[in-house]
Amino acid sequence: MVRIVVDKNACIGCGLCATICSEVFAMGKDGKAMVKAQKDIPCVKEALESCPVSAISEDGTKKK
Ligand code: F3S
Repeated sequence: MVRIVVDKNACIGCGLCATICSEVFAMGKDGKAMVKAQKDIPCVKEALESCPVSAISEDGTKKK
């Protein structure tokens, strides 16, 4: 089971992740992304790779 994490300090609130993978990511009231459900589905990887500031990681390890 993966653990998806959004680094709120890094997130610039571009909203891409929530657009790409709305089952997992949602935009919070603070304008930053949050993980609404831990799901191991393909679009997570896509969102992870698409985030302009690499704020999304799996298992706490940042993928570059
Ligand atoms: Fe933030 Fe990256 Fe998503 S900047 S809104 S975590 S695509």
